[in-house]
Amino acid sequence: MSIPLNPKPNGHIVLGVTGGIAAYKACELVRLLRKQAFSVQVVMTESAQRFVGKASFQALSGRPVFTDAWDPSIDNQMPHIELSREASFILIAPATADFLSRLVQGRSDDLLTSLCLAREIPLAVAPAMNRQMWQNPATQANIELLRSREVAVWGPDQGDQACGETGDGRMLEPDELVLRLNQFRQTNDESDAASKRIPLRGLLANRKVVITAGPTFEPIDPVRGITNRSSGQMGFALAHAATQAGAQVTVIAGPVSLPTPQACQRIDVTTALEMQAAVESALKDASPDSIFIGVAAVADWRPDTLSSQKLKKEFNADLSKITWVENPDILARVAARPAEKRPFTVGFAAETGSQQELENLLPGKAARKGVDLLVGNLVHESLGGKEANLTVLDATNIGQDKPPFIRLQSQSKQWQAEELIQLIANRLIAQA
Ligand SMILES: Cc1cc2nc3c(=O)[nH]c(=O)nc-3n(C[C@H](O)[C@H](O)[C@H](O)COP(=O)(O)O)c2cc1C
Repeated sequence: MSIPLNPKPNGHIVLGVTGGIAAYKACELVRLLRKQAFSVQVVMTESAQRFVGKASFQALSGRPVFTDAWDPSIDNQMPHIELSREASFILIAPATADFLSRLVQGRSDDLLTSLCLAREIPLAVAPAMNRQMWQNPATQANIELLRSREVAVWGPDQGDQACGETGDGRMLEPDELVLRLNQFRQTNDESDAASKRIPLRGLLANRKVVITAGPTFEPIDPVRGITNRSSGQMGFALAHAATQAGAQVTVIAGPVSLPTPQACQRIDVTTALEMQAAVESALKDASPDSIFIGVAAVADWRPDTLSSQKLKKEFNADLSKITWVENPDILARVAARPAEKRPFTVGFAAETGSQQELENLLPGKAARKGVDLLVGNLVHESLGGKEANLTVLDATNIGQDKPPFIRLQSQSKQWQAEELIQLIANRLIAQA
């Protein structure tokens, strides 16, 4: 499967799949929507599951598929409300004659009809059925009623049908449906939809995620040491977002005084060597399904000996008396693990200089470290602050003349963390 890493998400839609032969085409539809950077929540009727399994849609959308109005995994246990509140659009493809009829009647006897009835967002249907079913006055009357209620009816097309007959009733091809969706978005005010956040639920379900955060502190004597201004906020925001996405998260934190995000395991460390040991231990069962995100600003060097006594002023006057030893490169070591023990590896690079200089530097650094994604940020824009301005490089693009960067606009670190988790999930799906 070759779905490239998505640029900024396009929007979140609910795709309803009902029980017609064309349900198999909905798989391709999900793939194309993902390619266009839509995030897609698939909801299936019971009949639809007789045509295509949930697993296909789960793999293609990267999200759990919902089929049941009583699904306990939705936080407030109101999936028929919540799933559409998160989305900006509902598309039913294929839409069976029976589903259209239930829609017209305002039925809510399963999850998908309930979602449609409780919606506040636009709805489109892509009918797919035998030509006689389509031409039947009952179906035609239903279609007229739906149109009068501002439900968009896309198709059907005409041509050969699965039953061997020829005529009206074929579902529009997936690429045509994507085109219609994009046209709809361009001609309608999507400002509200655009401001909606992509729900993270289920994106990293059951994945193990290890994140390092904050600075390290390398002691020189009992009172002094070297450290940096990393606040740990970005790493903790990522830990929070990864937890929301369903991951089992361990955050390995240098000296910071931030509250631990709910449901995260936290390991506090001080030095780079302690961080290295904690990372190795947290990743001992890692596999390619796991994720490592190295956000911590790890000191490159440490004094080779720790003085047990406070160093005197006259000694401090000559810092060259301290011998420095290079710390291990935690990120590069994780990235260099053998394939079966190597997590998907994301690094951070905080640099000074201009955006252009940052972008010139990222490909070389990503190659040296061996990471899958490298996230650059300019020190003066993000270090220690509440906002960040991140530039993401996908290592699969290294070597191109002008590697395409994904620039996440300046926003709160929590917002940026959610975007990044979404990008990581997309990338994992793309390589599955
Ligand atoms: C093999 C088979 C193929 C079917 N294909 C279609 C179809 O293409 N379009 C349609 O409207 N109904 C089709 N049906 C009928 C629907 O599956 C049936 O009306 C079902 O109740 C629809 O449920 P749903 O709308 O809740 O998914 C088919 C039934 C079977 C057994």
